Amino acid sequence: MQVRAAVAYGAGRPLSVETVELDGPRVGEVLVEIKATGVCHTDEFTRSGADPEGLFPAILGHEGAGVVVDVGPEVKSVKPGDHVIPLYTPECRECEYCLHPKTNLCQAIRATQGKGVMPDGTSRFRTGADMLHHYMGTSTFANYTVLPEIAVAKVRADAPFETIWLNVIQAARMVGADRIVGIDLNPAKEPLARKFGMTDFVNPTDLGDKSVVEAVVELTEGGADYSFECIGNVEVMRQALECCHKGWGESIVIGVAGAGEEIATRPFQLVTGRVWRGSAFGGARGRTDVPKIVDWYMEGKIDIDDLITHRMPLDDINTAFELMHRGESIRSVVTF
Ligand SMILES: NC(=O)c1ccc[n+]([C@@H]2O[C@H](COP(=O)([O-])OP(=O)(O)OC[C@H]3O[C@@H](n4cnc5c(N)ncnc54)[C@H](O)[C@@H]3O)[C@@H](O)[C@H]2O)c1
Ligand SMILES: [Zn+2]
Ligand SMILES: [Zn+2]
Repeated sequence: MQVRAAVAYGAGRPLSVETVELDGPRVGEVLVEIKATGVCHTDEFTRSGADPEGLFPAILGHEGAGVVVDVGPEVKSVKPGDHVIPLYTPECRECEYCLHPKTNLCQAIRATQGKGVMPDGTSRFRTGADMLHHYMGTSTFANYTVLPEIAVAKVRADAPFETIWLNVIQAARMVGADRIVGIDLNPAKEPLARKFGMTDFVNPTDLGDKSVVEAVVELTEGGADYSFECIGNVEVMRQALECCHKGWGESIVIGVAGAGEEIATRPFQLVTGRVWRGSAFGGARGRTDVPKIVDWYMEGKIDIDDLITHRMPLDDINTAFELMHRGESIRSVVTF
């Protein structure tokens, strides 16, 4: 079938919105009509060429929501009409990782997903005779996409499509943190962060001689119980660890650093009880947990609407990347 998609033809080039060919779902696959998709830094990481594993040409996009319109043979868990969220971290419920309680990193389709193809090794997208790569197993910058069944979460049908990401501040508030310190070089982030539950704001440029670590240790009277690095900057990852409380503080790396970069700290930081770890996809098991997160949103427990600062049609998708570059958007959402 013919679909409208934003194609990334090469590193650093704007996306080209055009009509491309999409083959129907094969065994274990589903065809989804995408209704909305977020535009995120991870897409920009690949589009810009900064991602050494980025493949071109490709249809980017990994934060979408849509409706199942067709299913291939052997698909059991979803049917046409179901509302779904594509999952770049799938959940097969059978692999060693899915069966381990400590991780959400399903490995069932990892190798082919990384190569930009479906689990059978081929792509469903084409332009003329040329294949287009899938991206993160999702390719949501298209009004229709094909996904493995294990990479869709079925969600309630009354949720709006333009939702879907939970931020750290909201999560901290939900679990009952009474002091939430936000740190950012961009002061424009402060008001929204306060609305979401941040209690103190630190702008590293306003600290004078004081380091970020000193500032956080002072504010928290000894160090943070938990810290989260959400930038992808290895220097900040070190600061995030070292501002944690001795004995129990835990620092979680969320930001994705550039290829080949390394983190450093003095081992004594760990010997004295600080824990350094990372998390992908919020630690959520896609098919199991994403529907719950949608329920939280529908029940008013989390606010996603205020995170969406811009909306646009697919034809204007490059504007979303420009807004991101200028630091003017929190999240832009493309609606179809
Ligand atoms: N682990 C995961 O599951 C996961 C999921 C989504 C995104 N990510 C990663 O999270 C990171 C953040 O994504 P985002 O969309 O929130 O980006 P963003 O640009 O919206 O946020 C980054 C913020 O960091 C601030 N900043 C930059 N340098 C700083 C410094 N030295 N000190 C303090 N603040 C600084 C910027 O002003 C900006 O506000 C990216 O690396 C992205 O790839 C990880
Ligand atoms: Zn994203
Ligand atoms: Zn699995």
